[in-house]
Amino acid sequence: MCGIVAYLGNKAAEPIVINGLKRLEYRGYDSTGIAYFDDQSMHTHKTKGKVSDLEEVLAQHPKHHSTVAMGHTRWATHGVPNNVNAHPQTSNSGNLVIVHNGIIENYASLKKELQHRGFQFQSDTDTEVLVNLIEDVQQQKGIKLGKAVQVALSQVIGAYAIVVFDRRKPNELVAARLGSPLAIGLGEEEFFVASDATPFLEYTKNVIYLEEEHLAIIRRGKKIKVHKIKDDSQITPYIEELQMSLENIQKGGYDHFMLKEIFEQPKAIQDTLRGRLLSNEGVITLSSLREHDNRFLGAKRIIIVACGTSWHAGLVAEYLFEEFIRIPVEVEYASEFRYRDPILYPDDVVIAISQSGETADTIAAINIAKEKGAFVYGICNVVGSTISRITDTGCYTHAGPEIGVASTKAFTTQITVIALIGLYLGKAKGTLSRSAYQAYVTELENIPQKVERILTSQAFIETVAQSFEAAQNCIYLGRGYNFPVALEGALKLKEISYIHAEGYPAAEMKHGPIALIDKEMPVVVIATKKGHYEKVVSNIQEIKSREGRIIAIVSEGDTQVKELADYCLEIPESSEAFAPLLTTIPLQLLSYYIAVQRGCNVDQPRNLAKSVTVE
Ligand code: M6R
Repeated sequence: MCGIVAYLGNKAAEPIVINGLKRLEYRGYDSTGIAYFDDQSMHTHKTKGKVSDLEEVLAQHPKHHSTVAMGHTRWATHGVPNNVNAHPQTSNSGNLVIVHNGIIENYASLKKELQHRGFQFQSDTDTEVLVNLIEDVQQQKGIKLGKAVQVALSQVIGAYAIVVFDRRKPNELVAARLGSPLAIGLGEEEFFVASDATPFLEYTKNVIYLEEEHLAIIRRGKKIKVHKIKDDSQITPYIEELQMSLENIQKGGYDHFMLKEIFEQPKAIQDTLRGRLLSNEGVITLSSLREHDNRFLGAKRIIIVACGTSWHAGLVAEYLFEEFIRIPVEVEYASEFRYRDPILYPDDVVIAISQSGETADTIAAINIAKEKGAFVYGICNVVGSTISRITDTGCYTHAGPEIGVASTKAFTTQITVIALIGLYLGKAKGTLSRSAYQAYVTELENIPQKVERILTSQAFIETVAQSFEAAQNCIYLGRGYNFPVALEGALKLKEISYIHAEGYPAAEMKHGPIALIDKEMPVVVIATKKGHYEKVVSNIQEIKSREGRIIAIVSEGDTQVKELADYCLEIPESSEAFAPLLTTIPLQLLSYYIAVQRGCNVDQPRNLAKSVTVE
């Protein structure tokens, strides 16, 4: 939530910051702002709305050639989205400006203290409190900016990624983080600070991912200095080489990132399998599992923590691990897990699933699991993300950057990793027969081609979507492995089209939701051949008798459901266990086209942000 970009170097800073903010808009897009230093003074421009609105504001001001600037795109937490609450926020003297991602939980008490000392506040934000706290420390102690930031942060409870600038020291930026990510790009005599590395991809491949509770002092023409906030000790930061390219983060001819990412799934799944599934040899290699064989093979229980779509992938894992590995699995919303006092045994394995690797609730759940001595395995997409660092070990999904707020390729690649883990451990434990293992390995290898085939029905799905564009509600039904897919299908529809949608296990319908069915109610039913087919057909009959409109996801060549459903979207045959990798695809396309036809902003749905780095 919230995107930060700052630049200090020898180029014009404003275009770099503005372009960078556009790439970070997936993190929040309700208000935005920029501050730059020019002609010995600070200039701050802010507006409600998107970065394109900020560009219009900037076009009304004289051109400048500032080489230091910071910008922010906001997802509101404290205070409604408006010009005053937008960042950057300025201190009372006008000397300091700050951009902030996160939440200062004790901001109310800090604000009261500062008000007692004569500070005044214009905005409702916790960020304005923080910048004035830094100013207060500076004034009282007469210390340098870096030290003042460090002292102020030691009084703060909450999460932050910040960049601070002092107009009296125009060749310096101070950046710090706790709980929200910050990447620092190191160019030729120039520095970039951003919430992720995408804003500076075309300028440098050298990046420092600032560690938790670290503070960086960045000075023009000098080497970057990194300190621990707690004890001020200096550390040598690790400089990584970025593997991402500019192409990865562009739309590449598609109308939306979401559509591009749906179409990238065959490759994303292939990339996730690459080097891990060696089908000729019938082997799956996962070094993260091999190195911790004893933890997994000795586990009595697997507990999965995640949020949103990643939680749905966790539900698929529950079915798959219990079938393949014969270990009981519990799937927990990370946000619930973190606030109970969960019971964990020494031989439990906790698996955290997260696309971004930055979701605050999932991070908190991992920390609790670690405090209780659990072994934690991470399944993440973003390389170098917080979750990939704080877990004991794990496995990347290799989906590539996912920019559309609605998760698509992240979900299918998470399930791909889950399938690999299930197969590896099922074989190692002997709970999967040799022949079943071999058949699954071959099938998994062929999944990318099957996904490719489903994607060829794009035009048909677009036509089907036209009949549901005006719907107000929608029900999604599935059983077994396809129940989590029903939940995921409903989430996709509601988040991008604002149609109220609910996912249910198909058999649960008669325990309540059936009351909703009339001729206005679209019901999406996943009715593939393997997986309680006859039972689902009965559920379809029940809907039909109550005049519900049915869209069914069926196996190629199905005839029975075709007679009952209004529309059938076909997918190639698969085992029940791997069905979610296929049944998900038409549901993604259906939601996408319904949202487009309703004129919704598919990539940036209202009220949402890609990574939820606050509670
Ligand atoms: O980055 P994460 O996978 O941890 O994110 C979890 C959820 O916020 C995310 O899956 C969210 O539900 C998506 N917008 C769904 O499309």
